[in-house]
Amino acid sequence: MKTLELNNGLVMPALGLGTWKSKPGEVANAVKVAVRAGYRHLDCAWIYGNEKEIGEALAELFEEGVVTRDELWVTSKLWNDRHAPKDVEPALRDTLSKLGLEYLDLYLMHWPIAHRLGKTMPKTADDMVSLDELPLESTWAAMEKLVDAGLTRSIGVSNFNSKKLRALLKDARIRPAANQVELHPYLQQYELKALCDAEGVILTAYSPLGSKDRPPSLKAEDEPILLEDPVIGEIAAAKGASTAQVLIAWALHRGTSVIPKSTNEGRIKQNLEAATLELNADEMSKIETLDRARRYVDGRFWAVEGSTYTMESLWEG
Ligand code: A2P
Repeated sequence: MKTLELNNGLVMPALGLGTWKSKPGEVANAVKVAVRAGYRHLDCAWIYGNEKEIGEALAELFEEGVVTRDELWVTSKLWNDRHAPKDVEPALRDTLSKLGLEYLDLYLMHWPIAHRLGKTMPKTADDMVSLDELPLESTWAAMEKLVDAGLTRSIGVSNFNSKKLRALLKDARIRPAANQVELHPYLQQYELKALCDAEGVILTAYSPLGSKDRPPSLKAEDEPILLEDPVIGEIAAAKGASTAQVLIAWALHRGTSVIPKSTNEGRIKQNLEAATLELNADEMSKIETLDRARRYVDGRFWAVEGSTYTMESLWEG
């Protein structure tokens, strides 16, 4: 299993199981299949609405002795309506109680976006809080205290662009260990990757397969289907692998962590096997030419009219 060393010395398995869009009713089985197959990294979030069921699966795996807590890497994320410093620790405690764990390995600020408490999905500008009113730095300081309290071993961010990450790195007492962003051959994010490499921040690739199971409201009609890309398909055919495996292997060869989501037993196992798929320099450079700055998760749902958030401010830099 490939691993990545974080800037705090902890070692994270590079390939994890994504759980965004994994439905209650399916996610417990997916987690059990994955851990039994050898996955040791689970990527969760409060907003996915399935942490309780993941917790039940983990309890079963621990009970059966398949894995111990310290052999697993568990990530979760702080939701946007809990950015006020007083709400940060209770939010993590809620996630821990749902997952049935005493600590996380990594807790991420899910988006550089703040909502009013209880406004899980904002509908009007009144549901949003500007970053002037609730700066990311103050949320971060509250997250640093979670490390002090032993509730999470590392902290990081998600969906941060270079500019926001640089600003946070400037004054952080505990440097962010990771930034989880959308990354795949159509959105290679070289500038952000270079910054993270230079600053010792692990990049984790979400939607590495193009997240074709996103709800229709999050999909564009004209979007290209990554899993059907002909260049990826050609490389896959030459190696006797699937296109998904080539996409996962590409992410690992770039030195990023990667969290493909699946609830299907065969595909969960197939995705894990991608960790041993070698891509040569020629194949890597062919994939490099596919970059087209194409976001599948473009964050337009945060650009609520009348609020201070725009898609430009979200992704600039
Ligand atoms: P399923 O859960 O039925 O396997 P992403 O990780 O980019 O969010 O993509 C998840 C989507 O990709 C889901 O629709 C998932 O479906 C599908 N998927 C996961 N693994 C594979 C695979 N090996 N081959 C084809 N599709 C896959």
